[in-house]
Amino acid sequence: MDEIRKCYPSEITSYCEPFVGGGAVLFDILTNFNPKEVLINDINAELINTYTWIRDDVETLISYLSAMQSEFWELEQEQRKSYFYKKRERFNELILSHDQTAEKAILFIFLNKTCFNGLYRVNKKGEYNVPCGNYKKPVICNADNLRTISKLLQNVEIKCGDYKQCLDFICENTFVYIDPPYRPLTMTSSFTSYSENEFGDTQQIELAKFTEQIAQKGAIIAASNSDPKNIDENDNFFDEIYGSFNIKRVKAMRKINSEGSGRGAINELLIYNRGQL
Ligand SMILES: C[S@@+](CC[C@H](N)C(=O)[O-])C[C@H]1O[C@@H](n2cnc3c(N)ncnc32)[C@H](O)[C@@H]1O
Repeated sequence: MDEIRKCYPSEITSYCEPFVGGGAVLFDILTNFNPKEVLINDINAELINTYTWIRDDVETLISYLSAMQSEFWELEQEQRKSYFYKKRERFNELILSHDQTAEKAILFIFLNKTCFNGLYRVNKKGEYNVPCGNYKKPVICNADNLRTISKLLQNVEIKCGDYKQCLDFICENTFVYIDPPYRPLTMTSSFTSYSENEFGDTQQIELAKFTEQIAQKGAIIAASNSDPKNIDENDNFFDEIYGSFNIKRVKAMRKINSEGSGRGAINELLIYNRGQL
């Protein structure tokens, strides 16, 4: 965050985050600036449904989640597992139905708080497949946090779909933070499946063209990605496709990794067109 903050313009009146995910930068900006117009977008329909329900009816989520928390805390580990897998199965039925219901948002949060490492991953069929985690007293309902997030989201436009649909919103001086699925460093680390859609080199190149296009419109841009030079110092993939941008290599902590040893600091790229880096 410290490195990304250095790319923020001094004032932010218009903000767009086309790959919002967990929204770390979004919430930093909503907390510290007072943008007039904000658009967030993600291709993950379940995530976007959750944000929408948090914005529009957080009290419904809180009442169900606090009941689930009490129920869950009462259970032994084996009973918790069977509770978790039942909820996961129900969540996957709801994914198939495409209904954007409160139940789906509640299950999304429940699973996120009780699954292994808070990971979100789906298989090729689009089914959520993260196993049950092992926590003593997982906080399933953080009511204060949910209410704070709900307040912050009140004037935020929330869209679901491909990032390209943000194009019309972005104009001169819109600050855009772009945090796409990262280019895998090695074949075995190819974790690009937050959704069933692939995000390979072709998509990275298309995204670089989109980034150039919004830069031409006058947008202020910061983008993150993996640094191929961690593995191969001759790999200039991003230096080439972001030829007209500044690129800084920054140390980043890896948060989600099944092996503790994979959680250290490695270089990541910060790609930007203005700012005081
Ligand atoms: C690296 S994560 C973003 C993480 C986020 N910055 C955070 O703080 O948690 C990438 C996000 O891009 C989304 N995504 C993948 N392909 C996409 C696309 N074509 N258009 C929009 N969003 C996409 C994924 O669902 C995922 O939430």
